[in-house]
Amino acid sequence: MNAKPETLAAPLDVERIRADFPLLSRTVHGKPLIYFDNANTGQKPLAVIEAVDRHYREHNANVSRAVHLLGEEATAAYEGARDAIARFINAPSRDEVIMTSGTTQSINLVAYSYLMPRLKAGDTILTTVMEHHANIVPWQLVAERTGATVKAAPIDENGELIVEAFVEMLTPDVKLACVTHVSNALGTVNPIREIARECRKRGIPLLVDGSQAAPHRAIDVQALGCDFYAITGHKMLAPTGTGALWAKREHLMAMPPFFGGGEMIREVRFEGTVFADPPHRFEAGTPNIAGFAGVSAAIGYLEGIGFDRIKAYEQELLAYATDAMDAIPGLRIFGRAKEKEPVISFLIEGAHANDMATLLDLQGVAVRSGHHCAHPLMQFFGVPATLRASLAFYNTKAEVDGFIEAIGRVRKLLL
Ligand code: ALA
Repeated sequence: MNAKPETLAAPLDVERIRADFPLLSRTVHGKPLIYFDNANTGQKPLAVIEAVDRHYREHNANVSRAVHLLGEEATAAYEGARDAIARFINAPSRDEVIMTSGTTQSINLVAYSYLMPRLKAGDTILTTVMEHHANIVPWQLVAERTGATVKAAPIDENGELIVEAFVEMLTPDVKLACVTHVSNALGTVNPIREIARECRKRGIPLLVDGSQAAPHRAIDVQALGCDFYAITGHKMLAPTGTGALWAKREHLMAMPPFFGGGEMIREVRFEGTVFADPPHRFEAGTPNIAGFAGVSAAIGYLEGIGFDRIKAYEQELLAYATDAMDAIPGLRIFGRAKEKEPVISFLIEGAHANDMATLLDLQGVAVRSGHHCAHPLMQFFGVPATLRASLAFYNTKAEVDGFIEAIGRVRKLLL
C-alpha cells in the first residue's frame, strides 16, 4: 500500500522504445547496426528530431532581441529548456542554470571565470586519475598561467576512487576539487555526496562532471551537495552543441563574464559596460536555440520513461553483457567498480584495440577504441588503448548476443 509509484512502474518496453529511434534500424556494412558507443554520443528519438525540425519550420527567430511573435516563441523555446534543465537536475533556481555548448564549455567557464582570478602560485586543483580530458586540460591551462598545480587522486585496480586518499589530498592549498560523477571509460560511479561532504567541511568548492551520469540516473544537485555540475546534451538524447552548467548563485554572482558580446549586457558604453545578471551574463551571442528545443524534448522523453526503469533495465543489461564477456577466453575487463553505469572497457589478449574495433564495425557493431580522452587512466592500467562497449536503455540482450558472436568471429580472424 505504501509502495512508491516508481516501484509499481511496468518494466521498460525496449522494442517500443527502439521504434522511437530511427537510426537504430539502419544497417552498416550490410549488417544490422548494434550501436554500443553511447558514452561517446547517444542516438536521438523522434521527439527530439521533430522538436528541432519544428523549431526551424515554425518558430525560427533570435532570442531576446525581437518583440515580434516569432522572437517571443524562440525565446520561450530557449528559456523553456532552462526550466527543463533546472527541473532535470533539481536546481534550486532556473537562474543558476547557464546554457552552454556542453560539458567542455561548462568546465572552461568555471576554470577561467571562477577559478583563474582566485588562483595563485602554490595553489592546487584536485582531480582524479579517472577523469576525461575535459576535466583535466582546462585546469592545467589555468594552472600554467598562475603557477598552481593540478594533482590527481588515485584509483584502485577495480577502477574505484580511493576516497581516503582523495580526502587526505584536500589540503588548504586546494582551491577547487573536480570529480567526474561517472567515469566515461570505466563506468565507475563516484560517491559524490561523501566527496562533497568532505569538501564542504574544508570549505573547498566541488565541481562535478555529470556528462556520463545524466544519461543514466536522476541528478539532484541539491542532494549531491556540490558547487558546480556540468552536463552535455548530446549524451542524453539531445542535439550536439547543447549542455549546461549549474552553479550555486553565490559563485555565479562573484564570477565575471568570460565571453563578451550581445545578450549578456545591461548597458554598453565605451566608458564601461554593465553586465546582465546570471545566467545571461554568461551567455554571449546567439545560442543553439533549435538545439535547446531538442533538449526540452530529450528531457521530456527521459522523464516519460523514468530513471527508475532506465536504471533497472540498464543494470540488467550490464550484468548480462559482463557475464557473457567474462566467459570469453583472454578477454580482460577494465573497471569492476561495485557501482557502475553500463560501460565496459576491455581488451582481448593478442589483439590490438583499433583492429578489433575496425573488424567489429564490419560486423555491424559500433564500439569505441582508443584512449577515450582519458590518457592518465590508460597510463594507470598500463595500456595505450582499450575497446569500450557503452550501452543505453534502447539496447537489447539480443544485441549483446550479436556483439559476443561478432567478437568470436573477429577473434578467429585476428588470433
Ligand atoms: N566523448 C568521449 C567519450 O567517448 C569523452 O567518452
